[in-house]
Amino acid sequence: MKILYTYETEQEKSYIAEKLSMHDVVFHAGSLQDNPPTGGWSGEDIECLCIFVNSTIGNAECEQFPDLKYIATRSTGFDHIDMKCAHERSIVVSSVPSYGEHTVAEYAFALLLTLSRNMSAASKRVQEGSFSSEGLSGFDLYGKTIGVLGTGKIGKNVIKIARGFGMTVTAFDLYPDQGFAKENNFAYTSLEEVISHADIISLHLPQTTDTEHIIDKVMISKMKKGSIIINTARGSLIDTAALVWGLKEGIIAGAGLDVLDEEGYVADEMKLLSHDSPDPDELKTLLLNHYLIDHPHVVITPHNAFNTREALQRILDVTVENIQRFTSGSFLNVVK
Ligand code: NAI
Repeated sequence: MKILYTYETEQEKSYIAEKLSMHDVVFHAGSLQDNPPTGGWSGEDIECLCIFVNSTIGNAECEQFPDLKYIATRSTGFDHIDMKCAHERSIVVSSVPSYGEHTVAEYAFALLLTLSRNMSAASKRVQEGSFSSEGLSGFDLYGKTIGVLGTGKIGKNVIKIARGFGMTVTAFDLYPDQGFAKENNFAYTSLEEVISHADIISLHLPQTTDTEHIIDKVMISKMKKGSIIINTARGSLIDTAALVWGLKEGIIAGAGLDVLDEEGYVADEMKLLSHDSPDPDELKTLLLNHYLIDHPHVVITPHNAFNTREALQRILDVTVENIQRFTSGSFLNVVK
């Protein structure tokens, strides 16, 4: 099978070259969109694309790769792939459903602790030559209420860590796991109740049409004054304009965001500006993202929650197995 593999590091490239040596693999540095083709490939005879979340697959890509039979994404989420387009062309898509449930949950707490203890400002102060703690007072997590939206693989680990900190947990999920709630001493309630009772809200929902802007101005107006919001899930879950409004109103005291709406354009603004007629909504979101990036009580990281040595190794190993199983006809981790 001819595979086009988009890689992030040279180490990853060597590992995959060895593991998939029985296939004809061509490598492409970075995302499909960001870099010109390297390694002399053309879309014509590629049967498998192995990509990460920074590559998007839509109609244009489906046409660019007319022989495409299989997409192996090295991620849990597959919202960067137009599944309608894939189905229409009978392209099989696989993902890595679980590699980072501990990894991402730990990261949610890294963001939370950065905010609760003013870590960025404290570290910057010392780098600037001062050793004063004046004005750096934070708050304890112990005794606070965390509202977890989405109690799947990652949300459940967030809840276990929160219980370790001595926090009270309240949660919302379309499919509550009452056994887990009993074991971990918390109760499920409605979205509105979680939002209005929590001191800290942590998002662990997938990106779907139902969850898009689930945190909007109406929801933010129900939050406690001084709430903290953490998002390691997907940027589209939060209406960026509403978040900026909540920060200005003092309803939201801090935000820890590993994901942003239109995050691709933050990395490469020229991509948006080079369109003949840039989408006004996307431009607005880009400007609002800049407001967030500069805000002293907002911590933003570049979709990095998955990024540990251990998780990366799990991603590569599961992806190799997904590809091997596809070629042997016994599909694994196929998404619908
Ligand atoms: P999961 O599928 O195990 O859990 C999602 C939970 O959300 C499920 O319990 C489901 O019942 C619930 N849910 C779905 N739609 C809902 C709705 N409309 N209302 C209420 N509940 C709903 O997913 P997992 O693995 O825990 O991932 C959570 C999120 O984290 C995903 O958005 C994923 O893309 C993101 N993620 C982010 C990473 C990063 O690097 N920042 C890395 C890995 C995942």
